[in-house]
Amino acid sequence: MRRVAVLFGGRSGEHEVSLRSAAAIIEGLSSLGKFEVMPVMINKEGGWFYRGARVTVLPDPSRRGLYILDGEETGRILPVDLVFPVLHGPFGEDGTVQGLLELAGIPYVGAGVAGSAVGMDKILMKAALRQEGIPVGEYLWFTGFQWRGQAKKLAARVERELGYPCFVKPANLGSSVGVSKVYTAADLSAAVEAALRYDRKVLAEKFLPGRELEVSVLGNEDPDASVVGEVIPCNDFYDYEAKYLDDRSKLIIPAILAPELAERVRKLAVSTFKALDCAGMGRVDFFADEAKGHVYVNEINTIPGFTSISMYPKMWEASGLPFSQLLDRLVELALERYAERNLLETSYSPG
Ligand SMILES: Nc1ncnc2c1ncn2[C@@H]1O[C@H](COP(=O)(O)OP(=O)(O)O)[C@@H](O)[C@H]1O
Ligand SMILES: [Mg+2]
Repeated sequence: MRRVAVLFGGRSGEHEVSLRSAAAIIEGLSSLGKFEVMPVMINKEGGWFYRGARVTVLPDPSRRGLYILDGEETGRILPVDLVFPVLHGPFGEDGTVQGLLELAGIPYVGAGVAGSAVGMDKILMKAALRQEGIPVGEYLWFTGFQWRGQAKKLAARVERELGYPCFVKPANLGSSVGVSKVYTAADLSAAVEAALRYDRKVLAEKFLPGRELEVSVLGNEDPDASVVGEVIPCNDFYDYEAKYLDDRSKLIIPAILAPELAERVRKLAVSTFKALDCAGMGRVDFFADEAKGHVYVNEINTIPGFTSISMYPKMWEASGLPFSQLLDRLVELALERYAERNLLETSYSPG
């Protein structure tokens, strides 16, 4: 049986969400009856644990597996065939864990280092999408250092270039942590400070009215798009509470849309996935203003929420791919990509 380590928890504001996604994935993978599933929990301090023992992976492909750091089995290596990172946000969805797994020579589910890092950073992501001609809303960004030095000037730019209301968010995070909708100039500073608690880079975005649509993407080089889903937040916007605490937010799958709009959104989802060099999975989120005929990409999530009621697996289910088969496919895609990478030369001899 293939040994799959499911990595979850993590040093992130989205630790709790990860626990829920991982529980569903562990159950789904186990139900297939062909994997030995090893749950590896990362605590909020960043320590890795498997069956109560501290473990790690070593950046050494000849020692591939979980290396036990304490207890009676210290020094033993438990072989692992594949890692399924179920870590949302920084230190997991952002290329850091992916880099470690690359060095360790262990195949893993989802985007590689660059796709994860660029997909996580909303500033780099928008720049890359614009470069490919994919529509994103107007935005500007600055660091905490710049804000402290020239807050007045930056506030004037926000007012002139974006207007109010606008959105202020940390560049790298998710689950709406640190995100504010800012209605007046007087509230900008507090919103920037709130975002700066989570990241040194902040972005301010023009408010994009319209419906919030989402598409699940699955594949490597030639990925597929699911049916389109829609979220209707119960709050003013889709904040943390509306996502996880209040069950009045509505998730509609498939979204009731003109077929042309659905097709356009699905195509944009695949282009976004490719432009950001993603692999395996990704959920692409949009704002669609039907009256104006505008569609904008809001973001990609390279490790989307994955509880049994989350949009990513639900949109696949509605597209004919049940939860456990989706997991099976993700494992397959990870192994395929790993095998392809291993065909690349790692040395160069001239002549
Ligand atoms: N520019 C915007 N215009 C309108 N609503 C927005 C905008 N940016 C964010 N939102 C709202 O805030 C929510 C969270 O923002 P998002 O950028 O998706 O952050 P996260 O990565 O935390 O999910 C969105 O789902 C949406 O409801
Ligand atoms: Mg979002």
